[in-house]
Amino acid sequence: MSNAPAAPVALILLAAGQGTRMKSDLPKVLHRIAGAPLLHHAMLAGAALEPDRTIIVSGHGAAEVEAAAQALDPGAEVVVQADQLGTAHAVDQARAALEGFAGNAIVLYGDTPFIRPETLAAMLAARAENAVVVLGFEAADPGRYGRLVMKGATLERIVEFKEATDKERAITFCNSGVICADSALLLDLISQVSNDNAAGEYYLTDIVALARARALPVTAVRCTEAETMGVNSRAELAAAEAAYQASRRAEAIDDGVTLQAPDTVHFSFDTVIGRDAEIEPNVIFGPGVTVETGARIRAFSHLEGCHVSRGAIVGPYARLRPGAELAEDVRIGNFVEIKNAQIDEGAKVNHLTYIGDASIGAGANIGAGTVTCNYDGVFKHRTEIGAHAFIGSDTMLVAPVKIGEGAMTATGSVITGDVPAGAMAVARARQENKPGFATRFMQHLRDLKQARTRE
Ligand code: UD1
Ligand code: CA
Repeated sequence: MSNAPAAPVALILLAAGQGTRMKSDLPKVLHRIAGAPLLHHAMLAGAALEPDRTIIVSGHGAAEVEAAAQALDPGAEVVVQADQLGTAHAVDQARAALEGFAGNAIVLYGDTPFIRPETLAAMLAARAENAVVVLGFEAADPGRYGRLVMKGATLERIVEFKEATDKERAITFCNSGVICADSALLLDLISQVSNDNAAGEYYLTDIVALARARALPVTAVRCTEAETMGVNSRAELAAAEAAYQASRRAEAIDDGVTLQAPDTVHFSFDTVIGRDAEIEPNVIFGPGVTVETGARIRAFSHLEGCHVSRGAIVGPYARLRPGAELAEDVRIGNFVEIKNAQIDEGAKVNHLTYIGDASIGAGANIGAGTVTCNYDGVFKHRTEIGAHAFIGSDTMLVAPVKIGEGAMTATGSVITGDVPAGAMAVARARQENKPGFATRFMQHLRDLKQARTRE
């Protein structure tokens, strides 16, 4: 391995296309796969190269695209291509943003989410011996892709489908669109590109023949067709989601996670699951979930923005919402919703319960049907339950309220004031029995009914 510092990298992501076929008000690159916009997937692949500059060429919905790009990377620069005159014209919009930059430029596409960081690294490595490196793939059905015209290891030119001869159309080695070149050279070659072609567009692909005319070395690096999968329609979005889920499931299984029915488990782009965790069928992971080793997520549970520690058991039919923090060996049972709440070690919330804006101490037991009444219509209030407290079934905890360590609440209580440690709070009407009343009352009702049917 050489110790020479790697040349700086600038990413140029093309994202100006309208995406007409999506039939959407949302810019195409903001449609989501596994909870993250297509644009983020593309940016994250490039981010692994630790780029000095990230430039996004937007057009339709530029303001929304800019907000999304900067939400992921505040340093991302968004330039606007007002008219989409072709891929070379799109890259040309980054010229001002590249002012003063010396290094490699990599052109990526906002609607192509699966390019792997390793593939981009292979392209950068090939740059050592080549002025321009293009990412190609063997297409099962080459369709309308640009064709790569190779001569040995040299890429001579890229011919767009519209311009290709029958012989060229028979080529199955196709252009992914991803290109890597020295930034200054790229901009220089682009200034030579014309729109004198069948589409009347400025083709980025023309820079290959232009580089070869200067006798510069040009080559193509190969990736799988799956990596170059693009999204142009809702059907392709669904297919891309399926492909992403399939790879995440395989990855989880490979990492030592048990998935009983892999096809029914849905991951987010950032889901983290430790080894020996067990995920039962029909579990959905929204964004921001970490599940530690050995935890068990039972069937039909929905988790987002939460953390599940080792040994905890969640579900079946549980809902963990943002800010749910489960410590080790916690039990969350069926039809329980937890939001913005810390549940300490070994605590149990097993049935039909809502816990929101709360902390629950270690070993506490929360009875069936308990509700933290956390919202007064304007403000949210906290409920604090001490360690080893016992909350009787159907307790309403009207927040703000504190239940002391080892305290109890009687079943059916509406708790509006703090309960000291070790105390028992009873907050419900006292029971009164009326002897014989039920028998007399029922007889009265039956007599009434009979009188009415005679009328
Ligand atoms: C392009 C390539 C083709 C390659 C294919 C891979 C060219 C000339 N052709 O064709 O060789 O096989 O991609 O999918 O580059 N865009 C802009 N501004 C523009 C034009 C395009 O931002 O003015 C963006 C689009 O939003 C899209 C991407 O660039 O994300 C590719 O553009 P598109 O028109 O789809 O290119 P293809 O015709 O598919
Ligand atoms: Ca096109």
